[in-house]
Amino acid sequence: MNISSIPPAQVADRAASAVAIRGTALEKSYRSGKVSTTVLRGLSLEIGLGELTLVSGPSGCGKSTLLSLLGGLLQPDAGRVHALGVDLWALAARDLERFRLEHTGFVFQGFNLFGALSALEQVMLPLGYLGLDSGTARLRAEEALSEVGLSDRIALRPSALSGGEKQRVAIARALAKQPQLLFADEPTSALDAASGQRVIEILHRIARRHNCAVLCVSHDPRLIGQSDRVLQMEDGCILADRRQFEQKELTA
Ligand SMILES: Nc1ncnc2c1ncn2[C@@H]1O[C@H](COP(=O)(O)OP(=O)(O)O)[C@@H](O)[C@H]1O
Ligand SMILES: [Mg+2]
Repeated sequence: MNISSIPPAQVADRAASAVAIRGTALEKSYRSGKVSTTVLRGLSLEIGLGELTLVSGPSGCGKSTLLSLLGGLLQPDAGRVHALGVDLWALAARDLERFRLEHTGFVFQGFNLFGALSALEQVMLPLGYLGLDSGTARLRAEEALSEVGLSDRIALRPSALSGGEKQRVAIARALAKQPQLLFADEPTSALDAASGQRVIEILHRIARRHNCAVLCVSHDPRLIGQSDRVLQMEDGCILADRRQFEQKELTA
């Protein structure tokens, strides 16, 4: 069957069980001088397409480290990461960079926006690196900004935007690349309750609408009720793995 003939909700439903990222026996320590801190000791997990997975746990338990390993930003000491079937850390550096450019988007607590660029320019920038011509990039950027509810804000620079709006620009910048893998590290931690709620709702909707794997790591307990799946992490281990919504809700 041609996948384009399947209604979007059914595609999301089927894909909820499809593995987007598989981390196997991941180990990571940090060394500074003679002191070594072991963060992950053989952690394995799978992240599915079409859903928002939250890794929840206290500060310092290894969430950002795990996200960086799974997103191809930080090399594990041992273990493997397969993302979209590709063994990430077996790739040459250039190929890994290309993989990240084409297939991943990242959103961080601090937004990482350029002060001199308008919202539209921020979102268009990575599309240029992807090789899109400026007309196509502009259309895609406008579409992504519209999807995060910022159509009336595209000409503004970060100094004229609220924290929640800045984070939505950062999400649009990641989304405009149309990645299958979207990583968010503490995306709501710098935001007030209402803005944080909006951001997590947007991430949730993106996972379903675009059949994308959204992996969010956060110590913010407000996100727990908003995620399809919650992995509880402590001291570098996954202690619990809970799916929150019935499959039928996914298609509602
Ligand atoms: N670059 C680094 N060098 C040394 N230690 C680090 C580094 N990054 C993180 N750590 C340590 O590793 C542990 C896990 O950090 P992190 O993955 O950032 O946890 P979380 O995101 O859950 O707060 C913490 O004890 C932290 O201090
Ligand atoms: Mg962190």
